[in-house]
Amino acid sequence: MKLVKGNKTLDIDESELDKIIAGFKRTEIDLGTGDGKFVYKSAQRNPEILYIGIDPSEKQLEIYAKRTARKRLKNALFVLGSAEILPNELTGKADKLNIILPWGSLLQLVAKPTQDELKKIKGLLKPHSELIIVFGYSPELEPSEAKRLDLPEITERYIKADVLPEFIKCGFEITKLEKLQSHQLEEFDSTWSKKIRLTSSRPLFIMQAILN
Ligand SMILES: C[S@@+](CC[C@H](N)C(=O)[O-])C[C@H]1O[C@@H](n2cnc3c(N)ncnc32)[C@H](O)[C@@H]1O
Repeated sequence: MKLVKGNKTLDIDESELDKIIAGFKRTEIDLGTGDGKFVYKSAQRNPEILYIGIDPSEKQLEIYAKRTARKRLKNALFVLGSAEILPNELTGKADKLNIILPWGSLLQLVAKPTQDELKKIKGLLKPHSELIIVFGYSPELEPSEAKRLDLPEITERYIKADVLPEFIKCGFEITKLEKLQSHQLEEFDSTWSKKIRLTSSRPLFIMQAILN
């Protein structure tokens, strides 16, 4: 798989990855990590946990990959990939998977999930691991996105009726679904959580699940 290290990319194979993982108590993946701030900040706070951020944008990943290299943080990795094309090396490696404020096809996967797509992200997880998704979207605030992705309005009722059953069918046990107030985004120290916290009052939800 392709790692973004500083402003370079580097290929590592599964045995090299396994050696890194073995040095930590647990491994957490952040899918759609963007610039990687959440991974970087989490890695600074919890040196015993390995954080792996995945995003299709190399330019975005470089932002916190450079800071990680400067600070010589060993527990933050940045990987090029997408929900559709996940590196095989990461199969079954995560104790926890975060998806924070997805947009584009990642938001579509979360808000209009299909079994094929869910199986791909489930593939990242170890048995009994945890999934956390923070998402929300407003057709008024993002009319072009609504049209392009053909998304319905995301309400609690819609999530319960149309989203959760797909996750359950895929083997997840839902442990929490709650509306999130913008200020609660503070818990997720990422670039977009800060932007949204400070600028808009869109409906947001947190969904937590355990893989059975
Ligand atoms: C609004 S940003 C959020 C970034 C970060 N999680 C944060 O909170 O700052 C959405 C991210 O989703 C990524 N994304 C979009 N489609 C994706 C996909 N199919 N698979 C993985 N990431 C995707 C984008 O590249 C972008 O970085």
